[in-house]
Amino acid sequence: MMNNKQSLNSRKRGRIVPFLDTPGSLLFLTSEISPFMKTGGLGDYSQALPPALLRAMEDGGEVRVFCPGFGGADKDPRLVRAGGPLKFETPWGEKTLRVLRSGKKGDAGDSQPSPVIDFLLVDDLFDRKGLYGESGQDYPDNFIRYFSWSLAVFAWMRETGFIPDVVHGNDWQTGMFFPLLRLRSMEDPSLSSIRTVFTIHNLAFKGLFPFELFSLTGFPDSWGGFDGLEYYGDLSMIKGGIVFSDYVTTVSPTYRNEVLSEPLGAGLSGALKYRGERFLGILNGIDNDIWNPSTDPMIEVPFSSAEHSGKDLDRKCLQGKGRFVLPDAPVIGCVTRMTPQKGIDLLLAGIEEWFSRKGSPFSFFLLGTGDPVLEKKARELESKYSGMVRAVIGFDEPLSHQIYAGSDFFIMPSRYEPCGLAQMYAMRYGSVPLVFPTGGLRDTVSDGVDGLWMSALSVEGVTDILDRALKIYRDKKAFLPLRRHAMEKNNSWEERTGEYLRLYKGLPSSVPGSGQDLLMARMALKM
Ligand code: ADP
Ligand code: GLC
Repeated sequence: MMNNKQSLNSRKRGRIVPFLDTPGSLLFLTSEISPFMKTGGLGDYSQALPPALLRAMEDGGEVRVFCPGFGGADKDPRLVRAGGPLKFETPWGEKTLRVLRSGKKGDAGDSQPSPVIDFLLVDDLFDRKGLYGESGQDYPDNFIRYFSWSLAVFAWMRETGFIPDVVHGNDWQTGMFFPLLRLRSMEDPSLSSIRTVFTIHNLAFKGLFPFELFSLTGFPDSWGGFDGLEYYGDLSMIKGGIVFSDYVTTVSPTYRNEVLSEPLGAGLSGALKYRGERFLGILNGIDNDIWNPSTDPMIEVPFSSAEHSGKDLDRKCLQGKGRFVLPDAPVIGCVTRMTPQKGIDLLLAGIEEWFSRKGSPFSFFLLGTGDPVLEKKARELESKYSGMVRAVIGFDEPLSHQIYAGSDFFIMPSRYEPCGLAQMYAMRYGSVPLVFPTGGLRDTVSDGVDGLWMSALSVEGVTDILDRALKIYRDKKAFLPLRRHAMEKNNSWEERTGEYLRLYKGLPSSVPGSGQDLLMARMALKM
């Protein structure tokens, strides 16, 4: 492992009290970042939040993003070599780090400042087809991959002399960074000024591994208990972030409250309750420039809430792609990971029930991938109701945009939803969201104002919301204001970065007994 005793003091230092009146530095750790690698909303969050923070930090703060490498990164023309080969120690022997960097300018070629994104490639651990696994199976060496990656973060910080004021990590893949930082700070005081935030995007993914691996980590035995990294006999990587960070956040206030009890706490409600006021819900935003129907290059015809004739043409294109036979029937869209979380089983059963009852007609366009059983069910529904149902199984970014643009409604019967970005994209593209009001869906969609809420999480709940939506669609006086309100709702990150900045400012010192820092933190919270 990296020599803990080797002080970072001689290198460039971040400021002790971050983001008060002066520029600060932030290191953002994430395992996904659009448009490079994405399995869901985390990729979009990581693409949009760091630049929004950079814009919000006046006077030139610094934001850097570290991610793992991804399949084919070496040949990606958007990336340039930034460093390495660099050797560093891991419990599995010496590994080699190489770093690729995304250019300063955003991919859209805009002139806005954007954070430097460094992709940390560790041996060949990340040059794979999938991010976490393939064909529904996790890679068996995920512990080695993400533990080694956290060690690589320290190696790269040391190499570049970058000691940020704040590290903000996300989900289980970055969880081991936090206990490692605690361990290294004990021997290297220059690291102890770093404040940390850990954001949970989905508690169902706890990063569980056999507990025997704990002995390889080098952590003190006392960190292996239920109040440390242990989770019902396993080792949980997400607990690294929950237990060892200064502040824990999740991505909507409602989900934050829901996970403080079971079942949505997924066995971690106790650990989260223990964090008390240091566990917050901060609602996600979206990037209004990337997700903009008047400039989106992935859709056929641009439109806006003021000029929405283009949307009719986008609907026609989508109807063509769906081979739909009912040109006047509304189109209901769904773009989703196909997992139990998303309630796709209920949705497919509800649609089947609706059509078998000969309910009023609509067309349904589904794009998704995930659970093979659900994928099969979706294909079966498509062949039974071809001309009305189209199920595209796969991950297709342009098609997802075309579905948001070409549909009249967008359905999300989620069993739980930490935030949900899809409903916010749908709203921006004038597709009225039909949601079960859980987590961020409750916080972003107002029933009867800019979307509709399901009254129950069941097959009947699905048929009821279809009934309600289709009736409203026929009454243009009711439907058009609903769509307009949805399109005009401002869910942009610009509205929400302030909450993260306030949090970064208010972080108390991780140096025990540093009363000065605590005082500054309290002052910052009052600002
Ligand atoms: P989650 O992160 O739980 O999957 P979100 O609603 O936060 O849910 O984000 C989902 C993101 O992934 C959206 O950008 C959505 O468009 C995208 N997405 C999901 N499935 C697909 C797919 N099969 N093809 C293209 N994009 C998809
Ligand atoms: C997770 C959640 C989703 C959230 C996204 C980004 O994947 O399932 O609800 O929007 O992360 O925070």
